[in-house]
Parts: sequence; C-alpha cells; structure tokens
Amino acid sequence: MEKLYLHLITFLCMIALCVSLPTRPPVEPKGRQFPHDFIWGIGTSAYQIEGGWNASGKGESIWDHLTHNYPEKITDQSNGDVSSDSYHQWRRDVQMVRDLNVHVYRFSISWPRIMPGGYMNNVSSEGIRYYSDLIDELLHYNITPMVTIYHWDLPQRLQELGGWTNPEIIPVFKDYARLLFEMYGDRVKIWTTINEPWHICEFGYGVDYMAPSYNYPGIPNYLCAHNLLKTHAEVVHMYRDQYQELQKGKIGITMDTSYMQPKTDSDDDREASERALQFYIGWFAHPIFSKTGNYPQIMIDRIRNLSKEQGFTRSRLPEFTQEEINRIRGTSDFFGLNSYTTKRVTKNDHNNTVNFPTPSFSHDMGVVEDQDPNWTGSGSSWLKVVPKGMYNLIMWIMREYDNPPLIVTENGVSDKGGLEDYKRVDYLNAYLSAILDAIEDGANVQGYTYWSLMDSYEWKVGYTEKFGLYHVDFNHPNRTRTPKIAAKVYAQICKTNTIDWSYRPTLDEYQINAMAQLPEVEAVGDSTSSASTIYNTLTGRSWHNITLVLLIVNYLLRI
Ligand SMILES: *[C@@H]1O[C@H](CO)[C@@H](O)[C@H](O)[C@H]1NC(C)=O
Ligand SMILES: *[C@@H]1O[C@H](CO)[C@@H](O)[C@H](O)[C@H]1NC(C)=O
Ligand SMILES: *[C@@H]1O[C@H](CO)[C@@H](O)[C@H](O)[C@H]1NC(C)=O
Ligand SMILES: *[C@@H]1O[C@H](CO)[C@@H](O)[C@H](O)[C@H]1NC(C)=O
Ligand SMILES: *[C@@H]1O[C@H](CO)[C@@H](O)[C@H](O)[C@H]1NC(C)=O
Ligand SMILES: *[C@@H]1O[C@H](CO)[C@@H](O)[C@H](O)[C@H]1NC(C)=O
Ligand SMILES: *[C@@H]1O[C@H](CO)[C@@H](O)[C@H](O)[C@H]1NC(C)=O
Repeated sequence: MEKLYLHLITFLCMIALCVSLPTRPPVEPKGRQFPHDFIWGIGTSAYQIEGGWNASGKGESIWDHLTHNYPEKITDQSNGDVSSDSYHQWRRDVQMVRDLNVHVYRFSISWPRIMPGGYMNNVSSEGIRYYSDLIDELLHYNITPMVTIYHWDLPQRLQELGGWTNPEIIPVFKDYARLLFEMYGDRVKIWTTINEPWHICEFGYGVDYMAPSYNYPGIPNYLCAHNLLKTHAEVVHMYRDQYQELQKGKIGITMDTSYMQPKTDSDDDREASERALQFYIGWFAHPIFSKTGNYPQIMIDRIRNLSKEQGFTRSRLPEFTQEEINRIRGTSDFFGLNSYTTKRVTKNDHNNTVNFPTPSFSHDMGVVEDQDPNWTGSGSSWLKVVPKGMYNLIMWIMREYDNPPLIVTENGVSDKGGLEDYKRVDYLNAYLSAILDAIEDGANVQGYTYWSLMDSYEWKVGYTEKFGLYHVDFNHPNRTRTPKIAAKVYAQICKTNTIDWSYRPTLDEYQINAMAQLPEVEAVGDSTSSASTIYNTLTGRSWHNITLVLLIVNYLLRI
C-alpha cells in the first residue's frame, strides 16, 4: 500500500515536471538593465485608432477612400470609421499611457482632420483643438508627446493630384508642417516627419497593397520616394531655421525594414542580403544618413542598367542634383527604426525564374525572400519571431551610417485576440534583450516605443490581427479597453529599466471580469493563448511549490 502511494506521488511529480519544464521561459540572466537615461515609449497612429472619420468636418483621407470604395480589399471588409474611437476616448488613452510608466507617447496627426482638403485655405479649428487637448493632457502627466506628422492618411484631394508622385506635395506638406510647428511646437519636443517611406512608396504605388493601391510597379514608387525625401528635407530645414532654436525640439524620420539575413553563407546570398538592405532601408537612409548622400550606388547602377535593357530612355530612378543631395544629407536628428521580423534572402537568378514583374522594385532589387518555417510564428503570416535579426539590423545601421542616435520607433507582435498574451511577453523580452546586446556592443540606441498601445485598425487586415498591449472591445459602443498581461510586463520593464524573464503575472480579477464580457471567440483568443492558460495554471507559483514539496516528501519516504 505504501509502495503504491509512493509510485503515485512519483508519477504525479513526473507529470508536473514534464508539463512545466518545456514551457518555462528561456533561461536568461535575470535583471538585465538598460542605460539609466533610456527612453521608453508606446505608439499609435491616427487612422488606426481615432475613428471619427467625418467628425467636425474632417476631410476624406486616402484610407477612408480605399476602405469605403473597395471594402473587398480589406480582409474583413472593415474600415476605420470608428475603430478604437480615440477621437472620443483620448482621455482613457492617456490614462493607459500613464499606467504603462512610459516617458513618451508616439502618435500621429491626421492631416485631413486639420486641413480637410490638404490646403491652408481651410483649417479646422476643432481638429487643431483635438490634438492640442491631447498634448496638454499628456504634459499634465509628464508624458512627452512624440508626434508623427505623416502616418499614411493623405487627404484624398491631394491624391487626386497624384499624391506623392506630384512635386506639388512639397510646398503643400510644408504648409501643413508649419501649421503644426506653430500650433504645437511650443509643447512638442520630438517630431518625426514621415513614417515608413518604403511602405508609402512601394506598398502604396508599386503594388496593390496599401492606399492609394496604384498597383503600378517600377516607376511611381521611385517618384514617390524622390518627392518624399525632398519634402522631408524641406520640413527639417524649415524647423531648424525657424523653430528649433526657440522650441528646442528634435526632428527626424522613421524608416522600416525587416532584417535581410543571407539564406546560406554563400557569397551570392551575402551579396543579396547587403543589396536587400540597401534597397529597403538605404533607399531612404543613404540620402539622409550617409557621408556622401544620394541613393545607394547599387540602386543607381542596377536601376539604370535594367531601365536601359528594358528600353527606357532614362533611369526609372530619378536623379538628384548635387545641390539636392547636399540639402537632404544630414536632415535627421535621430534614426527612427521600425522593425518586426527577419527575412531570408537569396539572389534572384538572371532568368527571373520567380517571375517578378518587369520592371518592378523586386526585380530591380534582384532578391528572393522567404522565412525559415522553423521560426516561431505570430498572428500575422509575415511576422516570425527572430530577435537576433533585430540585433543584426541595428549593428548594420551602426556600421553603415556611423552609429547615429537611434530610436526603435516600432517593434511588436500580433496575435488573434485575448488577454493572456504570454507570447507577446516572450517577444518583448527577447527583442529587448537583442536591443540591449546591440547597446552593449556599442550601438547608440536611445529609446524604444513599443507598437502598439491598443488593438486597432490593422490596415489591410482590418481587425483580424491584434498588436495592442490593451485589448479593445470593438463590439462595445465605448470601445472598452482592458490591459493584457503584456501591459503589466511592459509597465514593469519601463518602471525598473530592467528585463525580468521571471515576471509572468496572471490575470487579476479586473481582467477576468473583463474577459467574461467578451464574445467567446475573443475571450478564448487563438489556440496559442488558450494553451497559455493551461500553461499558466500548471506553472504558476503555487504549482512550482507543490512540485517541490512532493519531491521532498517522496525523497524522505524513500529513505
Ligand atoms: C458620418 O459618417 C456616418 C457613417 O459612417 C454617417 O452615418 C453620418 O451621417 C456622417 N456624418 C456626417 C456629419 O456627415
Ligand atoms: C472646409 O471643410 C469643410 C469640412 O470638410 C467643408 O464643409 C467646407 O465646405 C470647406 N470650406 C471650404 C472653403 O473649402
Ligand atoms: C551596369 O552596366 C555596366 C556596363 O555594362 C556594368 O559595367 C556594371 O557592372 C553594371 N552594374 C550593375 C550593378 O549591374
Ligand atoms: C536561363 O535560361 C537559359 C535559356 O533558357 C538557360 O540555358 C539557363 O540554364 C537558365 N539559367 C538559369 C540560372 O536558370
Ligand atoms: C527545422 O528543424 C528541424 C529539426 O530541428 C530540421 O530537421 C529541419 O531541417 C529544419 N528546417 C529548416 C527549413 O531549417
Ligand atoms: C459609455 O460611457 C459613458 C460615459 O462614461 C457611460 O455613461 C455609458 O454608460 C457607457 N455605455 C455603456 C454601454 O457602457
Ligand atoms: C512558494 O510560495 C511562497 C509562499 O506563497 C512564495 O513566496 C514563493 O515565491 C513560492 N515559490 C515559487 C518558486 O513560486
């Protein structure tokens, strides 16, 4: 009888151990610290969270236009008309930002909310007041506003003039930026002109992905980039000449790329990796951050050669004059970097076997991308968890551009819903560890703004993928917000300046009650988060203790 009892205990212990061992977070040195002046932040963008799409005379943006006229292009046929309703819920947003213990709130201003048609002839005082109130509320709680001037929601009227392909955008955007400096520059100390030029130009004009969905490969993308770089430079010069001394702010730009890892160690693949980084990020960063300015030489050469082969009389990549090169070079006080994942790259063969359209950005780049099927997935097919890629990317930027002050302006991971986002906790810890590795190896990373504050309108995939630290109930008229587990973890990181892998809080009563209000599919979330519920129950503090006690009892009984 006693023997049976012993076996039973042993058996129980084995089960407890087997269940808890493989799901424990990776073993990492505990309590790694960030530099004492490291800037912690959290980000959103106007179209994704505000709603109020036609409130108080707001004009139509290219995203209003796309989602209203071509809903079939959006995964769930949804739009941002109401979204997280931050146009009305902004005080709650600020409260959430406070609860995260961050220093900085990165948000964007909707151009058509302030200037419905894009021009100065019609300025909305209610639009101006909305952001003014938000900024005051943030400052009241000692949170620094970090304002993105342009995060993709171009006034539709300007798109009808050709949008970024028309150089008319330069003076018009400058007027818009001037208005923002005049209205908010006394209170806003960190500006970024433009968010993710690559997405704007290639995904907006080259392929049918983001608004305005031109689907016109190989030509307008380069025109867009050309005008965008000039616009950025003019705005920065205006700020430096007329405002910076008085307002004492910083101004920069935010670029995006995945890390482009060579698929194998072959020369061809390593060359493909370098070329891909030059095409994705050098396209915009080389003109601004390199010593020589201008587009990367490899882009100039390849696109000139291919254009000629294709029968064009000029390169499809426009040329800057020396004066323009000088004017653009050095126009950023910091390097804003958005990065979420890594791709593996290999050289496209001369026959273009993968069938990229000719001409096109991808064909010009001459690189074929994929991802390792073994990499950990997320709620988005393109987003695999590869923290080492973040380290490699930062180190590449450090070498390429002489170690500029860098702020990671976006980084984060998606899932399909729910509050128990332990995968997000793991992602956060792992990516922050990679960033800390880069800092320890000399990279001048000064800050990090996690993406995103709350679940919001995820562009082409509508509401089907969630990036928030706060859950938003999109079925509730008030768009109720509830912190996820990762919100608690991030708040702890920001408070202590430290990554602590062992900090894995469980749902509190408030969260459990909130979860009970959600529709079933949401409350359960995806299979990964319900799995983590089990994980959590089994590996919670009490279970570790019970396991330990059982082991000791078993041991004592045996001897
Ligand atoms: C705003 O748009 C909604 C549909 O999203 C419509 O019902 C409402 O009438 C519009 N309001 C104004 C002032 O145009
Ligand atoms: C200004 O914008 C508002 C809101 O879109 C519109 O109703 C009004 O007609 C515009 N005024 C002018 C002068 O364009
Ligand atoms: C472009 O063409 C020139 C002349 O044929 C050649 O020397 C050069 O290697 C080519 N460069 C690239 C990047 O294709
Ligand atoms: C490219 O096409 C040519 C002619 O069809 C063929 O001989 C050659 O093997 C192909 N090269 C590659 C790398 O596929
Ligand atoms: C994935 O991992 C398995 C087991 O470790 C390995 O056999 C396989 O080659 C990997 N696949 C790739 C594409 O790396
Ligand atoms: C929404 O919020 C308002 C203001 O806080 C409150 O009066 C109202 O009861 C809420 N509506 C619902 C359905 O909870
Ligand atoms: C075991 O329980 C004690 C008392 O509840 C607690 O302080 C301790 O952190 C627990 N240990 C582990 C490993 O969870």
